Amino acid sequence: MVENKKGVNKDMGKVAIYPGSFDPITYGHIDIIERSLEIFDKVIIAIADNMEKQPLFSIEERLQMAKNIFKDSPNVIVDSFKGLLVDYVAKTNAKVILRGLRATSDFEYEFHMASMNRSLNTHLDTLFMMTSKDYFFVSSRTIKEVAKLGGGVEGLVPDLVVRRLKEKFKLPVTKKKQIGWDD
Ligand code: PNS
Repeated sequence: MVENKKGVNKDMGKVAIYPGSFDPITYGHIDIIERSLEIFDKVIIAIADNMEKQPLFSIEERLQMAKNIFKDSPNVIVDSFKGLLVDYVAKTNAKVILRGLRATSDFEYEFHMASMNRSLNTHLDTLFMMTSKDYFFVSSRTIKEVAKLGGGVEGLVPDLVVRRLKEKFKLPVTKKKQIGWDD
């Protein structure tokens, strides 16, 4: 957890919390994070430690991947949380929850979540950013499905994540079968 949240936040400027399962983190997530740094001074990637979801990667593995990917980005903090997101956000003093929207199909789920979070804490707002066109078909769920069946996910997730997926699914590390629009 982020220590000394009040003090940290005071020095941090405008902060957004970017919550999610990140199971695993994709270039779709990374695109949102990088673009959001044009608006916010700091972005906290808040990885949900939610047992109900039965993730492929443990919370430690998801934290390790995200920390590694953003190791050279001082304005990106990687953290985990348990329980209600609004309680976590309240501890950081951030006022904005950031979420990516890929398509209208995301909207209903996101609308419910944002409305519930707002009813739990009226001081919080959710800001949505449209995913870039190169990644709007990318989700952690489809990445896992494709990788499990031996399809290439290079270019859709960082190389580190490609390697971790191959290790998880016990696939040869040399396998390369790119998926793209022309396939
Ligand atoms: O990447 P995901 O799985 O779409 O992220 C969903 C997440 C983790 C942001 C959401 O499930 C969440 O905030 N979980 C914490 C529990 C909570 O606060 N639930 C109430 C919001 S409706």
